[in-house]
Amino acid sequence: MAWLTNYLTSSIGRKLTMSLTGLFLILFLVVHLLGNFQLLKDDGGEAFNKYTYFMTHFPLIKMISYGLYLFIIIHTIQGLMLAAANRKAKGQGYAVKTTPPGVTWASNNMALLGTLILAFLIIHMAQFWGQMHFGGMPESTVYPNFNEGKGVKDLYALVAEAFTSPVVIAIYTIGQVVLAFHLWHGFQSAFQTLGVNHPKYTPFIKGFGKAFAILVPLGFAVIPIIFYLTH
Ligand code: HEM
Repeated sequence: MAWLTNYLTSSIGRKLTMSLTGLFLILFLVVHLLGNFQLLKDDGGEAFNKYTYFMTHFPLIKMISYGLYLFIIIHTIQGLMLAAANRKAKGQGYAVKTTPPGVTWASNNMALLGTLILAFLIIHMAQFWGQMHFGGMPESTVYPNFNEGKGVKDLYALVAEAFTSPVVIAIYTIGQVVLAFHLWHGFQSAFQTLGVNHPKYTPFIKGFGKAFAILVPLGFAVIPIIFYLTH
C-alpha cells in the first residue's frame, strides 16, 4: 500500500488524480444539467420528479453517486494539497516578473475558486439532497403507471419553493460564475495533465473547454432565474 500513498502524495500523482476526478465531475455536470432541464417542462413537475426518482432508485446510478461523493472529496483534498505545495515552491523560487504563456487569473486561483464551489455545494446539497435523504419531504401526486400507484418525493415542489427567494437566486448565479472560471482553466488543464498534445486536437479541446465553461454554468444559472420570473 506504501506505493499507493507515495504515488498519491507525489506531485504527478496528485495532478493525475485531479485530472481524472475532474473529468468525471465534468461528466456529472452534463448529466445533472440535462436532468435539471426537466424542471422547465410545464407539467407540474412530473418529468423532474420521475427523473429524480430514477436517479435515486436505480442501483447502478446509486453506486455511481457514492463514487461521485468520493471523487468530490478526493478532488478537493488533492487540489488544496497541490495549491499548498505550489505556494511553498513559489516562495523558494526566483522572483519571476513575466507571466508565462497560458497563465490566467483563473489558473492562478483554482484553489480559491474550488473552495467557493465547495461552499456552494454544501449549501446546495443541504437544501436539496439533504432534504431528500434526511428531511420530511412531501409526496407528489400519483403518476399513472409509475411507482406501483404510490407518489414519489416531491423534489419539484422543494426546488420551486427554494427558487422563490432572491437570496437563493443570487447564490446560484454567483456559484455559476465561480464554476465558469474554474472550468475555464480546469477543462483544458485536465487534458494537458493526461499528456494530450496534438497539433489538431489540442486547439479543439481548448476551444471546446472554453465553450463548455460558459454554456454549462449558464444553463445551470438560467434555471433558477426562469423559475423566479415565471412562478
Ligand atoms: C439549477 C441549478 C441546480 C438545481 C436545480 C439542482 C438540483 C439538484 C437536486 C434537486 C438534487 C437532489 C436530487 C438528485 O440527487 O438528483 C441535486 C443533487 C446534487 N447536485 Fe444539484 N442542482 C443544480 C446545480 C448544481 C451544480 C452547479 C452542482 C455542482 C457544482 C450540483 C451538484 C450536485 C450534487 C453533487 C448533487 C448530489 C448528486 C447525487 O446524490 O448523486 N448541482 N441537485
